[in-house]
Amino acid sequence: MSHRILVTAALPYANGHIHIGHLVEYIQTDIWVRFQKLRGRRCLFLCADDTHGTAIMIRARQEGRSEEALIADMRHAHLRDFGSFDVEFDNYGSTNSPANLALCRQIWEGLRQANLIVEEEVTQLFDVEAGTFLADRFVKGTCPRCAAPNQYGDNCDKCGATYSPTDLKDPVSTLSGSRPELRSARHLFVRIESLHDFLNDWTQSGNHLQPEVANYLKGHFLGEPLRDWDVSRPAPYFGFPIPDSPGNFWYVWFDAPIGYLASLAEWCARHNESFDDWWPRGADAPSRGAEIHHFIGKDITYFHTLFWPAMLKAAGFKLPHQVHIHGFLTVDGEKMSKSKGTFIRGEVYARHLDPSYLRYYYASKLTSKLDDLDLNLQEFIDKVNSDLVGKVVNLASRSAGFVQTTGLAAQYPDDGGLFAQAAAEGEAIAAAYEHRDFNTAMRLIMGLADRANRYIDEQAPWTLRKDPTQAERLQQICTVTLNLFRQLAIFLAPVLPRLARQAGELLHAPIQHWSDAQTPLTGTAVGKFQHMLKRVDPDLVQKMLADSRDEAAAAAPPATPAAASTTDGPEALAAEPLTPTCSFDDFAKVDLRVARVLAAEEVKDSNKLLRLTLGLGGEERRNVFAGIKGVYEPAALVGRLVILCANLAPRKMKFGLSEGMVLAAGPGGKDIFLLSPDSGAVPGQRVH
Ligand code: 2FM
Ligand code: ZN
Repeated sequence: MSHRILVTAALPYANGHIHIGHLVEYIQTDIWVRFQKLRGRRCLFLCADDTHGTAIMIRARQEGRSEEALIADMRHAHLRDFGSFDVEFDNYGSTNSPANLALCRQIWEGLRQANLIVEEEVTQLFDVEAGTFLADRFVKGTCPRCAAPNQYGDNCDKCGATYSPTDLKDPVSTLSGSRPELRSARHLFVRIESLHDFLNDWTQSGNHLQPEVANYLKGHFLGEPLRDWDVSRPAPYFGFPIPDSPGNFWYVWFDAPIGYLASLAEWCARHNESFDDWWPRGADAPSRGAEIHHFIGKDITYFHTLFWPAMLKAAGFKLPHQVHIHGFLTVDGEKMSKSKGTFIRGEVYARHLDPSYLRYYYASKLTSKLDDLDLNLQEFIDKVNSDLVGKVVNLASRSAGFVQTTGLAAQYPDDGGLFAQAAAEGEAIAAAYEHRDFNTAMRLIMGLADRANRYIDEQAPWTLRKDPTQAERLQQICTVTLNLFRQLAIFLAPVLPRLARQAGELLHAPIQHWSDAQTPLTGTAVGKFQHMLKRVDPDLVQKMLADSRDEAAAAAPPATPAAASTTDGPEALAAEPLTPTCSFDDFAKVDLRVARVLAAEEVKDSNKLLRLTLGLGGEERRNVFAGIKGVYEPAALVGRLVILCANLAPRKMKFGLSEGMVLAAGPGGKDIFLLSPDSGAVPGQRVH
């Protein structure tokens, strides 16, 4: 077995924020990497932002800024969120980097030389106003099967039909609202079928894939000829231009996985290491370099188990050792939902709850299978409180204070074999981590915690503290308890790096290696017990849900279906708002007008919104949703003057179209300042 390990998690798309669904994978991978490092293996954890494609291009246009500015902001947000969940990469790159461009060219060269690139004519819908071909998710129309209106270009959510956008009746571009026309362009394809035999071997033998994945591929793809893979997109497109095909760009899914290689190249450059020692190329590549492990979700299986190995093979790079695939996250048994508040961004979670809770909860549920993982919020609260606070941290909090002045006993006392038993279980726990069966690892560790708790309950050190004749006994009991606590902290270190650090500080012995759990500490000083983990406060869980709900209601879906995933698939999610700075020129574009409130009513099913009908002088009317429900009686607003941002792009909200925004200032509560009725302002008047 190679002594180097290279690990990747899927590159998050730069069009959306990290949410608790993404975090299943990043936490899973981070735990596995931390485990490998704690076992003393040379392991790198690489990732990057996935930055190219139509969705980014369109969003940047809508926000009136460059794609580069957009992806720079999102990178910042992603790194902030990973940091707050202790997901620690050795390198975090970007697919829009010079390193990635260079590697794309190398792989392309390899594919050309292997004669795998062919050209074919593709007919697609083209939006003349927006000047771009339309990906499936940017077209809506009437279902060709059941005639349901307003269906996306790839499938109908009424009757479930799947089709090509060119089959839609009355297609409309969601970018411009115009009727797209059919146009054809030459695309470049990879002739994957030429690698069919290789893919049969690679997927079906050698243990590269979970058995259910291997079977799925055999049943769904490998039983018939593999279709050519379209890897080019005509301009305009945000991506890398294809050097030998002017006017064409590599499709985002071509350069995304190459981002794994590019992230490694960046790490090697920074550490003065040879790329080839990690990810070799050439006939002897299989016997050299690192063991390569990819962690991904099941929605992007075929990109990583067919296209990616084919690309690597064609270009002569070492193939992945394993692709580990996990299921989706559900919350309380259902898909994450914006209206229920269970579509929780990492940042919103971290604002309310300790990220260690989620790391532990996910660990306790994760296995090596593809099953979906359910975050049951009540179980989450109970598990964290009973396991982490009740069984683990409690050991330290109930014993450390008694030995703060004396330190640990010079000799490890007789503990009835507890320490030795736990040490012996270290290998079974390690095997469970190794096989990504974190659920088993957590169960074994909690079994040890139960035994340690029985010990301290029986010994009841708190009953001895007043009796000077029992001082030695007290020190012995606490020496045992703190050593058992430390063993647990070591075994939990891949999941709970903060707890491991705190345990190291408390006992003045940093946790550095898995084998630290084999030898008890003796004779060392004990620090002051510092708070380690609070109990989960159920109110905070509710607040987090309420915040997520409000955020989703306030952030109206954008005019385009911006996807969180690079695939324009059913996972498409509304883009979350970013807060870039506003230049003077931007501000000068804002059309502020005085408007009169003609009608105001509460929006049912919304905690925050009022529906306002505004008059701008003359006949002009606007329908605007304002987040001031509960602040004003709607009736009290009627007749009042407000300032309206009149040229804000209309937003489709769950409750209807919002055609502008009312500006209001004030500390909240009842004090929101609108224009006074006798200000002399006239509806329709421009304000600046
Ligand atoms: O599905 C996604 O969100 C993609 N951004 C994952 C890319 S993984 C790799 F291939 F780059
Ligand atoms: Zn239909």
